[in-house]
Amino acid sequence: MKLRGKFNLMLLVVFGLALAASGYFSYKQLNDNARDEVLSNAGVLMETILSARTWAVNEVGPNLRETSEEEEMLMMGVPAYAANKVMEAVQKRYPEYGYREVALNPTNVKHRPADWEARVINTFRADATKTEEWGIRETNKGPYLYLARPIQIKQSGCLGCHTTPEKAPPQMFKIYGDNGYGWKLKEIVGAQIVMVPMSVPVANADRMFKTFMFTLTGVFVAVFVLLNIMLSGLIINRLGEMATIAEEISRGNFEIGEFNEGGSDEVAHLSSSFNRMRRSLIKAMDFFNKQPG
Ligand code: HEC
Repeated sequence: MKLRGKFNLMLLVVFGLALAASGYFSYKQLNDNARDEVLSNAGVLMETILSARTWAVNEVGPNLRETSEEEEMLMMGVPAYAANKVMEAVQKRYPEYGYREVALNPTNVKHRPADWEARVINTFRADATKTEEWGIRETNKGPYLYLARPIQIKQSGCLGCHTTPEKAPPQMFKIYGDNGYGWKLKEIVGAQIVMVPMSVPVANADRMFKTFMFTLTGVFVAVFVLLNIMLSGLIINRLGEMATIAEEISRGNFEIGEFNEGGSDEVAHLSSSFNRMRRSLIKAMDFFNKQPG
């Protein structure tokens, strides 16, 4: 294999490995970043909604019950209602964000869990130490990240509405029927699930990945071309010329001109040594030719 072939082969192997490695790591890093960003958005949304729930159950509810029995007013003290109202407001600005409060035995049948939601609730019920679960789900609107937290009956205040229809405010039975009762203190009855779309951050990560890989490939191609030009100009062409001259001389053709290479690099050094050697050789040949005999 010629010098250029060896050199280029080595360059291609090194560039190939470097591209593959940086491609792999940057892809992973960019996607992890996108996911972390979405996860942190989901966390903020979850906390916001949670605050609305706490506010409703601790502050609004007790006050309302003392002052009014009206249906509308009662609803304002329902934590799930407060949560959904906050979410409705958020969705005006971010319609693609989603929030669900699902329970295995829901008050509002709209909150009956889908299969995957029921699975999430059951993992929380099976392991009371688990406080959060997240994952990515493919939907027909693209990939979504879900963040789920268990809903546990921690306050006896919840049981005022979720034990029996008799104990609960009468409006509740009228609206929801015999649903959402029989919950127990400490029981994990359901889950809060925030859904945040991944398509935009994933598309951004993809775009950044492509730009990065494109630039890196561009740099490699430029380096490749430049090194090849230098290799030709500085080494291969000059060595080629010297080889031709050496070959001519070896065949006894001393007529061929000297290879005069200025400069101070190794090839120039080699060429001047070669010229000196050639002159010595001519002198030696002359000397022998002039010997009588
Ligand atoms: C004033 C009565 C009331 C109180 C107090 C109350 N809830 Fe509810 N809860 C309801 C009603 C009514 C709904 C249905 C709301 C709707 O239609 O969105 C509901 C819905 C829910 C849901 C959504 C699933 C479902 O059943 O539809 C969960 C989970 C829930 N409540 C948990 C709790 C917890 C936990 C507490 C205590 C922190 C609590 N609730 C306190 C009345 C109450």
